[in-house]
Amino acid sequence: MPKLINILLGEHQNIEKLLGVLEHELDIFDRGERPDYEVLQTIIQYFQDYPEKCHHPKEEMIFAKLMARDPVAARRFGDVEAEHETEASRLHGFAAAVQSILADQEFLREDVHSAMRAFIDHQREHLKKEEQLLFPAALKALLPDDWSAIDARLDDRKDPLFDAVVEEQFHDLQQTILRWEQEAEADRAALSRSPS
Ligand SMILES: [Fe+2]
Repeated sequence: MPKLINILLGEHQNIEKLLGVLEHELDIFDRGERPDYEVLQTIIQYFQDYPEKCHHPKEEMIFAKLMARDPVAARRFGDVEAEHETEASRLHGFAAAVQSILADQEFLREDVHSAMRAFIDHQREHLKKEEQLLFPAALKALLPDDWSAIDARLDDRKDPLFDAVVEEQFHDLQQTILRWEQEAEADRAALSRSPS
């Protein structure tokens, strides 16, 4: 399998971890308690940075090659750039909702809930769709030269949150993710022990 697809799948797993944390914070908000707004803001900042600037461009290059090699498969997927733009505007809606709370502006709880829920759900759908339609079609249709041409244009910038060296602004978020993963793991273990 081309290295790039492995990288993209790994990045999807990382995004899913963040969506898990967001969902956890949304549950807290829905119970009328105070979510960790610092975590929410850092997650927003992360999404505005790495996925938008580095992850999406890789997928868009794959899509452009697929369009040239197998336009039918590409059209079956749809339009990856348009989907990324829609994701960016959902992220913007979610960021604006968090901002309005932090700025003590009036807000409706259901608006905040919907903005967060929409972001989480559509992200998941989008990742799944790429994994089910875009990546397999590209693996089938792209030639070795296509993958090398994409590789040559790749920006080798490291993920600021999931690399061995995590950027300072993301240290606390990294700890939150680890804690959350341990809690989720403990929950799963408890669930498997409980009698059905
Ligand atoms: Fe994508």
